[in-house]
Parts: sequence; C-alpha cells; structure tokens
Amino acid sequence: MKRSAIIGVGGYLPEKKLTNADLEKMVDTSDAWIRERTGIEERRIAADGELTSDLAIRAAQVALTDAGISGQEIDMIVVATTTPDDTLPATAVKVQEAIGMTGGFAFDVQAVCSGFMYALATADNFIRTGAVRRALVIGAETLSRIVDWTDRNTCVLFGDGAGAVVLEAREGVGTKADTGVLQVALRSDGRYRQLLGATGGVSKNQRAGTITMEGREVFRHAVTNLAAIAAEVMQAADVTASEIDFLVPHQANVRIIDGTAKKLAFEADRVILTLPKQGNTSAASIPLALWEGVSSGRIRRGHLLLLESMGGGFTWAGALIRF
Ligand code: UT7
Repeated sequence: MKRSAIIGVGGYLPEKKLTNADLEKMVDTSDAWIRERTGIEERRIAADGELTSDLAIRAAQVALTDAGISGQEIDMIVVATTTPDDTLPATAVKVQEAIGMTGGFAFDVQAVCSGFMYALATADNFIRTGAVRRALVIGAETLSRIVDWTDRNTCVLFGDGAGAVVLEAREGVGTKADTGVLQVALRSDGRYRQLLGATGGVSKNQRAGTITMEGREVFRHAVTNLAAIAAEVMQAADVTASEIDFLVPHQANVRIIDGTAKKLAFEADRVILTLPKQGNTSAASIPLALWEGVSSGRIRRGHLLLLESMGGGFTWAGALIRF
C-alpha cells in the first residue's frame, strides 16, 4: 500500500516580535496574566505588505530544500489558511508560481486551526490513491490582520507564521512500522460555530472582520475532543502512548496542551512546545512545531509522532505519522 512520507519540513516566522510587555501598553493586561493563563511570552507579526503567501513561499522553499527537490517535482499544493491574500484566487496558486511549478494543481483549504490537518489528510488521500506522487502541504497565517487589537480576550493569543511539509509516496506494508502518515482522523461539529468566529465574511458583509471567541467554552471542549481523537487514531493504528516519541500539538494554550498530554499519559519532555515564542499561529502551528522539533534534532527519522488540533467550527483532528 502507498504511504505519504514526509521528505522535507520547513517554516518561516516574520522578523517583528510583539512581546507581552508591548501588549501591556495596548490593552489592560499583564505579562503575568498572559504567561499564567496561556503560556505565551511573545509572538511574531508580519510586516506591512508581508502577505500570507510571502510566509507560505518562504516556508515552502525551506521544505523543498530540506527534501532536496525542486518545485517542478511537486504535483499538488494545499495551503491551509484562514487569512488568504485575496478573496480569490487561492493563495496556493501564488506559491505554485513562486516555486516554479507549472504542472499539477494548487488550492486552499479552510478549517481554521485544524487547517493543516485537513490539508494533510487531503494530500495523503491523493497520494494513497496514486493520483499524486509528491505534495506540498502548507499552513500559513497572518492572523494579526484579523485580530481586534482592542480586545484583550483575544489579541494576546495570536501570531503570524507558516510551516510546510513535502510528502512523497512510499510503498508500505500496512503496519505501524511503515514510514509516513499511518492514520488521520478529521472531525467537525457546526453546532459550535458561533463560539469561535469573525465579525466579517465575504457573503455576509464583504469584510474580513475580526476574531471573536468564547475562550472558556472553546477551552472546555478542547481537552475532551483532543484526547478522544488522539485515542481514536492510536487505537486505529494499534499504537499505545508509550510507543509515541513526540506529541506535536496545535499551539493554542499551554494549559490545553498540558491537559491533553496528561490525559494521554505523555510526560512534558515528549511534547513539542512553540507557544511561548510564537503564540497561536492557527493553521501554521503544527507544521511550525514539526519544523522546530526536526531542526532542533529532537525529532529524528523513524520517530512516531502524534499530531492533534482543535479550532473554529469546531474542527478537530488527530494524526499518527512515522517520520
Ligand atoms: O486555536 C483555536 C482554539 N482556541 C483555543 O483553544 C483557545 C481556548 N481558550 C483559552 O485558551 C482560554 O480560555 C483563554 C486564554 C482565551 C482565556 O483564559 P481563561 O482562563 O479561560 O480566562 P477567562 O476567559 O475565564 O477570563 C478570566 C478573567 C476574566 O475576568 P473576570 O471576568 O473574571 O473579571 C477576563 O476578563 O481574565 C480576564 N482576562 C484578562 N485579564 C488580563 C481575559 N483576557 C485577559 C487578558 N489580560 N489578556
């Protein structure tokens, strides 16, 4: 059977840092509150004129270099983003042009903070069917553009960035010893869509709007949903928590990550944490965490990784990957 192996990982963070001390000057908040309640110390903010596609292209180039292949060798690009450059066309086609890919196809997916997982699952299915040999999967966001900078409930949480992986078809035997994506599970429940949304929309009012969130409610659902979907993918792949080398979670709140890790019996040293320096970068957070884990040398070839995400919709997802 075909498996989607990760042959390259990349990321990019804008230069500009916004610290908790900076935020203290903008809204009624404190460094102590933000650290204690979220685990965030600083986040990156895209420069004026620096677009989601610019971040995505930088991350893609790093991933392609890591894979040792050119853009022409990619058959498919999926960009997960909630903050596209344009209402149309897709941000993915800008990436396609920039990396010199003239064949194949490129499109965006929108599943908010679970976007990367949805994009990964999509590409994985194209690879499994044999329709595609190599795919570039990107999570890229400029959330700072839709943050209400007067709302302390949300403005302290988000940051900008992009992460990317290159997937390539490999023959596997169908067991957990295979290299590549072993299991992916996607879920959504639209009954909760009001709890995390935006004040704008193309069809609604022709605006992008700003983020609104019932933080406490989202938090309450997050740990339960994440632990459940993680258990589901582990069971489906016949894997126990002790066999997994690293948990690579969506980075929304350190208390959600700790709570999920505890429920799944993961010690802190088996969790990749980028939240303190990056904040919540939505669809970019998981590939950025993967990039951090790989470039720091913690994640190595052969390691078994558990990825999980939860975001607006609600959407949530889990995946098991042998790197
Ligand atoms: O990535 C997509 C998924 N998103 C998430 O997973 C986010 C999930 N939610 C969270 O991470 C947390 O709910 C937050 C970090 C957003 C908030 O933490 P919390 O512990 O749930 O705080 P809370 O909303 O219950 O607010 C507690 C208090 C409130 O004051 P009162 O009403 O008790 O007087 C807030 O007004 O903290 C206040 N507060 C703040 N104080 C200082 C809220 N934001 C701030 C702030 N600085 N930035």
